[in-house]
Amino acid sequence: MASRVDALFYFLCAVSLVFSLIVAIGVAFSAARYRKGSPASRKGALHDYLPIELVWSIVPLMIALFIFAWSTRLFFDMRVPPKNAMEIYVVGKQWMWKIQHPEGNREINELHVPVGRPVKLIMTSQDVIHSFYIPAFRIKQDVLPGRYSEQWFEATTPGEYHLFCAEYCGTSHSGMIGKVIVMEPADYEKWLMSASATGIAMAANGAELFERYGCRTCHRQDSGQRGPALDGLFGKQVKLAGGQTIVADQEYIRESILNPSAKMVEGYAPLMPTYKNQLTHEQVNQLIEYVRSLSPTTAK
Ligand code: CUA
Repeated sequence: MASRVDALFYFLCAVSLVFSLIVAIGVAFSAARYRKGSPASRKGALHDYLPIELVWSIVPLMIALFIFAWSTRLFFDMRVPPKNAMEIYVVGKQWMWKIQHPEGNREINELHVPVGRPVKLIMTSQDVIHSFYIPAFRIKQDVLPGRYSEQWFEATTPGEYHLFCAEYCGTSHSGMIGKVIVMEPADYEKWLMSASATGIAMAANGAELFERYGCRTCHRQDSGQRGPALDGLFGKQVKLAGGQTIVADQEYIRESILNPSAKMVEGYAPLMPTYKNQLTHEQVNQLIEYVRSLSPTTAK
């Protein structure tokens, strides 16, 4: 997106410059020519001259609408990640970025990605508001406690790029920095196998948590239906007790783990306790990946 963002930015600069010059030159010319005591003729001054008023209303309106259409298009392209994007989880905290790849690799203040592939970041904070900012990619998005926010990019050139927190978040805000390392796909595959590899995918971590916290007792096909079955759930419409439907995405599953009675599935009693103080944000993300892995059609 960087070149498209830059093109819009330079266009806005150019428009501002042109109009600033028109106004400034007009002011300077009039101030000099019609200063007090100058002999210039004041005859024929215009009042209520319709054509010129139409021109200076309609031309800026057209320019503004043109900018609106251009920037709206760009905005939507930036906001909507491609369907085939690889997904990486980000948890912000005072004062570091914790990142986990679906393959299980964890890193802190570093983000390794392959070149030429769209990457979607699924981000949350475990304390205050942070902002995940990669200037070279022209993307920045607030990272909030209590919900997920997303942004995406597709790196085009291998190399290292700055990563900043762009929301003042306390004493060491300025130290909440890192780097994005863009690698050739083969190098990225190698990296996945090495350094930070745990050998355990997020979904497998999630499966282990699913057992440890006894989720299986209620959430399985043959458990007497105390809780909804999770197979094939991810990405599907869920009918809620109130009659509405909701898509079972990351946000919904996160809420259902931390605040189970918030959106009850139709036909089930509010039996489930909250897991708010028992699970870390990383563990919630792993459980989500596990639930997603139960839906092969929506898995990446
Ligand atoms: Cu996190 Cu500033």
